[in-house]
Amino acid sequence: MTMRGGWMLWNALALAIAACVVTGAVMAASSASAKAEPWMNAALSPDVRADLVVQQMTLAEKVQLVHGVGWAALIPGHPIPRSLDYNFGAGYVPGIKRLGIPAINLSDSAVGVRLAAIQSRYATLLPSVVGLASSWNPQAALLYGAVLGRELRDQGFDMSIGGGINLTREPRDGRTFEFAGEDPLLAGTTVGNVIKGIESHHVMGDIKHYALNDQETGRTGMHGAAGFNAVISRRAAHESDLLAFQIALGIGHPSAVMCAYNRVNGVAACQNKWLLDDVLKHEFGFKGWVVSDWGGTHSTVASALAGLDMEMPGDTYYGAPLQTAVESGKIPLARLDNMDQRILRSLFAAGVVDHPVLPRTVVNPFRGRRDAEHIAEQSMVLLKNAGPVLPLDAASIRSIALIGSHADVGVLSGGGSAQVDPPGGDAVDPHAGTSHWQEVVYFPSSPLRNIRRRAPHATVAFNAGTDIASAVALARNSRVAIVFVNQPMREGMDRPTLALPDNQDELIEAVAAANPHTIVVLETGGPVTMPWLAKVQGVIEAWYPGIGGAQALTHLLFGDVDFSGRLAVTFPQSDAQLPHPHVTGLTPAVFAHESAGTSAIVAQPFDVDYNVAGAAVGYKWFELKHLTPLFPFGYGLAYTTYAFADLKVAADGASATLTVTNVGKRMGTAVAEVYARLPKVAGEAYPRLVGFERIALAPGASRSVTIPLNPLCMSIWDSQTHRMLRLPGTYTVSAGPSAAATALSATFTLAR
Ligand code: BGC
Repeated sequence: MTMRGGWMLWNALALAIAACVVTGAVMAASSASAKAEPWMNAALSPDVRADLVVQQMTLAEKVQLVHGVGWAALIPGHPIPRSLDYNFGAGYVPGIKRLGIPAINLSDSAVGVRLAAIQSRYATLLPSVVGLASSWNPQAALLYGAVLGRELRDQGFDMSIGGGINLTREPRDGRTFEFAGEDPLLAGTTVGNVIKGIESHHVMGDIKHYALNDQETGRTGMHGAAGFNAVISRRAAHESDLLAFQIALGIGHPSAVMCAYNRVNGVAACQNKWLLDDVLKHEFGFKGWVVSDWGGTHSTVASALAGLDMEMPGDTYYGAPLQTAVESGKIPLARLDNMDQRILRSLFAAGVVDHPVLPRTVVNPFRGRRDAEHIAEQSMVLLKNAGPVLPLDAASIRSIALIGSHADVGVLSGGGSAQVDPPGGDAVDPHAGTSHWQEVVYFPSSPLRNIRRRAPHATVAFNAGTDIASAVALARNSRVAIVFVNQPMREGMDRPTLALPDNQDELIEAVAAANPHTIVVLETGGPVTMPWLAKVQGVIEAWYPGIGGAQALTHLLFGDVDFSGRLAVTFPQSDAQLPHPHVTGLTPAVFAHESAGTSAIVAQPFDVDYNVAGAAVGYKWFELKHLTPLFPFGYGLAYTTYAFADLKVAADGASATLTVTNVGKRMGTAVAEVYARLPKVAGEAYPRLVGFERIALAPGASRSVTIPLNPLCMSIWDSQTHRMLRLPGTYTVSAGPSAAATALSATFTLAR
């Protein structure tokens, strides 16, 4: 798929304006006639209200509600629905006006509302989700979701299709930036709270891509067939990727779960009865609906019977073929009713029916920018600070060199369906309209301008970094050299290695040789290798930091705010340390296709053996194999230092208590991370993250905190009873500032 999202702006704009004017009237009229109906009584439960609606629906209406109407605005040239309430998003399901059921307008919104420029609208670009997860802050995740929900609603959408929660099994996955890291508790808590924030604005949220869709290479087969086959034992799946979904579902209660393009243990995810019916709906008790990824439906009867409730974006399988299958009895009517019930109960539960969306509000870009900046400050991670070279002293510093990565004009963003349109176009190469699928896009948040403003007595000069000799000359004549480097990532393409692309390692080496005070700022979608690490004084992981990125970075560089981010992913020393030293299926020829934007389609679907690591994803793998990473999961420095002491654990393992002290001279926020090793009988040679908390502390202050430990994270999946259970025996709980630094330990024993 190429150039998704391009469209004739003026045509769209004219239609949109007409739509805005008329939609309100249409909605008002429909709700007036249906207002008196019993299901409009908000005192009834969402399930009862949904049942009442289903009883009134004709067969045609029941079928209409379980599929979209086509690719529409997503792919140029596809027909645009004539309906006035279509909102130019990734998907659209017409409402049922006579019953007062509004249309569902879905928008991609992983890191901000996508395709906003199509209607000359503004959308806030938030920091990458992996950055958000690195804040270890559920409150930041709630705010993140609230920004998305607010702007979706302001723009006329009533459903988000962000919510990516695929675990970082494969850190070279092009979508790593869209997902919440490698640990089920951190990822589930982060994404669950994002959904909560979205739904607080009466906008439906979803989580995706269910499940084990942890790389892009081979994600779809030829002619729309399902993609690579993730091979994994049921127990390992339950204790890793599925656990992240389970935790997020418990916190956020999303309206929908999007099933993935790939196969799992031989069966396409969107017609995989084990995944959808058995695990999601029965074991996890999910009450919302399962929507297919775009083009991820492959059958009518098999999908319907396996638990898929909605085909997106079109009606190939869930349009006329579904109606025929119900009429002929191949699909029981009760199953179709159940699909509709799940969709309708979610509309009621999220408040979409009681608070219909009227796309008339203007997004407040300043509020969005401030929120994005606040989250970015918590998401960036200080990885090295020798000297200490940081924080910079604005009063005394006289010269700063900024080198590379377009740091004069902007910050990098991630591509694919998580791409947000930058205001005024790409900061590097401005053009009007929406961004294309494979573009590398910079947002207008300029480090150069912000640093100049913050250090008015210094000469702050920029060098593009494309000519190493001139970059070195500038670095040599500056007190400090800050080298910005990047690793563009996007959907439909994996990175062949963890190395920085485009000779950027060479640039850093050369600058570091010329200036002993070199600081590297990484704008990457995930971990990268750092062959130059010993030669530089400072390293900051800024991820793709969003529209407030340069402001946040400046505050951190000059110590106006302290670093509180901790890595949500392990940084390996080399590709060789990963469970798969090469991305499975990513040959040079496939990479050439992916880079050209022809997506991650491969001729022959292949197996990706997730049993190599099993449930030992990320730091667990490193522990299991006795590998020392470059930077461990949970790692991050600050300008102050913290001491952890007095770990105690409740007799039933429900919580751990410890004392955290700020032993430095500056205000800061510590992150206490609690890990547990299961009793020996579990057969696991690694710890699991079971609880965490951020603690703000004044210099010298000390606090005792009691952190709840998540029982699911201390459970194994029992193949006999098909549920998570806690094994009897002794659990060793440890705590500290990262997965690799947990000096404190305590035990509790569960009786048989
Ligand atoms: C992606 C989804 C996205 C959908 C709609 C698919 O290609 O995998 O994450 O929501 O497109 O844009």
